[in-house]
Amino acid sequence: MKKIELHVHLDGSVRPSTVAELLGISDDEAKKNMIVSYDNKNLEEYLTKFDLPLKVMQTKSNLRRIAKELALDLVEDGVIYAEVRFAPFFHTKQGLSLNEVVSSVLEGIKEVKKIKINLILCMMRGASYEDNLKTILVAKEFLNNGVVGLDLAGDEHKYKTSSYKDLFLIAKKEKIPFTIHAGEADGAKSVMDAISFGAKRIGHGIRILDSDLAINEVIKNGITLEVCPTSNVDTKVVSSYENHPVKKMYDKKIKITINTDDRTVSNVTLSSEYKKLKTHFNFTRNDLLKMNLNAVDASFMSVEEKKKYIKILKDEKILFKKGKDL
Ligand code: HPA
Ligand code: ZN
Repeated sequence: MKKIELHVHLDGSVRPSTVAELLGISDDEAKKNMIVSYDNKNLEEYLTKFDLPLKVMQTKSNLRRIAKELALDLVEDGVIYAEVRFAPFFHTKQGLSLNEVVSSVLEGIKEVKKIKINLILCMMRGASYEDNLKTILVAKEFLNNGVVGLDLAGDEHKYKTSSYKDLFLIAKKEKIPFTIHAGEADGAKSVMDAISFGAKRIGHGIRILDSDLAINEVIKNGITLEVCPTSNVDTKVVSSYENHPVKKMYDKKIKITINTDDRTVSNVTLSSEYKKLKTHFNFTRNDLLKMNLNAVDASFMSVEEKKKYIKILKDEKILFKKGKDL
């Protein structure tokens, strides 16, 4: 099945074998440090799994290679359009400029012709105002030239969404689209704050289910949620896959999309995620198509491109109905 992915982190999706090769360690050692363990306690601990890949993501050639490999992995997974995100500031420890970081990632993804990828640049919770402001400026520099939006990632429990209002006011003034991680490690109020800033998309957002007010706000404003079920189990936002509210959200007609978040950290692909959704919640192929159409609609690509991808998805549905082998 052809798929669209809106929420996937570059640094959470690096091949362990690549990190092993670049650091001269074994694949097992790399995996131990990059894949979350069953007893992971929370988002804060989950985020420590980015430390090792970030060590090697500090040169142009490594960034190019890692971005290209993710593009190849996405193609292998059946993804035809993706918005890949990362925080440029995390890649400046050996002297690269923000411009060089973004350019290198763009060069890597452009080498893979079978998929279209646009970038979302992450501001970070806990980073300084100045560093986050520079992220907005570099997004503006590359806007519609490979970069399509901004995000706010990091520890939502420690650093509240409300503290980032001024930065999103600037993003809005600069007409840069944005999505915000909210309603994951913090509650419905965090999502309400993100919507009040002008976010049209929310990363995760699943904790709106604790508040009818927040559910109504999401539906009323046509907000799309980037749901990442396996990641939510890993960070203990939900107690088990069966207890994930994804089906409840879908049945309430909330606009949701399905995403991996961090392919390596959560040891997941979109194909494996779709399989689990079918097994645990009886989602049909049509339901998954609907969520892919939601993803095109909520993506930050141009109107022309949206039309193209909607046609590709609908053509595939017709072929499937005719019994063609896909
Ligand atoms: N939340 C916040 N920051 C992140 C996440 C997440 O799920 N994944 C990678 N960075
Ligand atoms: Zn995320």
